[in-house]
Amino acid sequence: MARRVLVTGGAGYIGSHTVLQLLREGFYVVVVDNLDNSSEVAVQRVAELAGGFGKNLAFHRIDIQDKEALEKVFHTTKFDAVIHFAGLKAVGESVQKPLLYYKNNIIGTITLLEVMAAHGCKKLVFSSSATVYGWPKHLPCTEESPLHAMNPYGRTKLMIEEICRDVHHADNDWKIMLLRYFNPVGAHPSGHIGEDPRGIPNNLMPFIQQVAVGRRPSLTIFGTDYSTKDGTGVRDYIHVVDLADGHIAALKKFFDDPTTGCEAYNLGTGKGTSVFEMVTAFEKASGKKIPLILTARRPGDAETLYAGTAKAEKELKWKAKYGIEEMCRDQWNWAIKNPWGYGLPEPPN
Ligand code: NAD
Ligand code: UFG
Repeated sequence: MARRVLVTGGAGYIGSHTVLQLLREGFYVVVVDNLDNSSEVAVQRVAELAGGFGKNLAFHRIDIQDKEALEKVFHTTKFDAVIHFAGLKAVGESVQKPLLYYKNNIIGTITLLEVMAAHGCKKLVFSSSATVYGWPKHLPCTEESPLHAMNPYGRTKLMIEEICRDVHHADNDWKIMLLRYFNPVGAHPSGHIGEDPRGIPNNLMPFIQQVAVGRRPSLTIFGTDYSTKDGTGVRDYIHVVDLADGHIAALKKFFDDPTTGCEAYNLGTGKGTSVFEMVTAFEKASGKKIPLILTARRPGDAETLYAGTAKAEKELKWKAKYGIEEMCRDQWNWAIKNPWGYGLPEPPN
């Protein structure tokens, strides 16, 4: 019988790509999402892209803080594992509205863990972030590097990691993977699902994309005076399809390796790319010129961040396949097919 996986936040950017890969691998998937930062259209498109496997997908519009609603979902399906993407993720907003972030991300996770425990489902994959490394002193960041969050969003990730470690320590029936994502970009090669942020994008790639399709006049580069190859910040960009596959690898480890405990894994490529390099790669993929405005550093940004990938390669038997060229190609394909994301054009000002 097909393994059953609950995916919280499965309508979102990384969630939708992961749900598609799960369906294609033969899993039965239930998505819960409150659609706070996503659209149900993404779920419909995933079902279409999955072809015959699309029938193995169910969706419930639920806030994971709503314990009663979650209970109902667990009553109707016995899950083998949960992948937990649901959370708010805008760093700047978390500084403005810390309580919203602590409540949504932490209370949401505790509620989920309580309901899972009550129903005897004790396998969890959690979306952590490279943000837990802060501004690292040594590179690449390995899973043993010191942890330091620089804002409320990052602190929610760090606190949830600690909660998971405590939960496993108290009851080692719990199997937990803390997946620390580096910078997910790109889109499914079909161009039918991709990232569709609400409002002004906070992140580099969605911003570049919106400039390229003419939704915004220029890209502002935050800081050209870093001690990097060209003065701009360096990150480890990872194709979202590679990232999605990392979740399948994590689930396989749960089911194949009874010794699994509570472990953190970096999901990155191990390669650093600067902002200027990313802009050039996107210009090449799209054939569009991206007008630039050079300004001061963005507060709280690290200079350079890239992953040590040895642990995931060895223990999850997973390695990113795609490079920057494919990331930009697929992001552009999504952009030209869906210049307004899943929604309608914004009315002119
Ligand atoms: P996203 O916003 O596209 O997806 C998150 C989904 O969770 C959204 O669909 C949103 O509606 C839903 N959600 C939020 N709060 C909820 C709640 N209380 N109940 C139910 N649904 C809720 O973001 P994403 O980029 O797909 O990120 C997924 C996860 O990965 C997040 O936890 C994020 O913090 C983490 N992460 C993302 C990045 C990144 O750069 N995208 C990097 C590292 C970690
Ligand atoms: N940048 C710009 N202009 C922009 C946006 C970003 O120059 O308009 C620069 C940043 O200064 C940084 C780089 O592009 O040097 C990448 O910035 P992003 O905002 O795309 O990504 P971050 O690395 O700052 O953060 C992202 C997510 C976090 C997550 C982290 C994991 O926003 O939630 O990746 O590494 F935790």
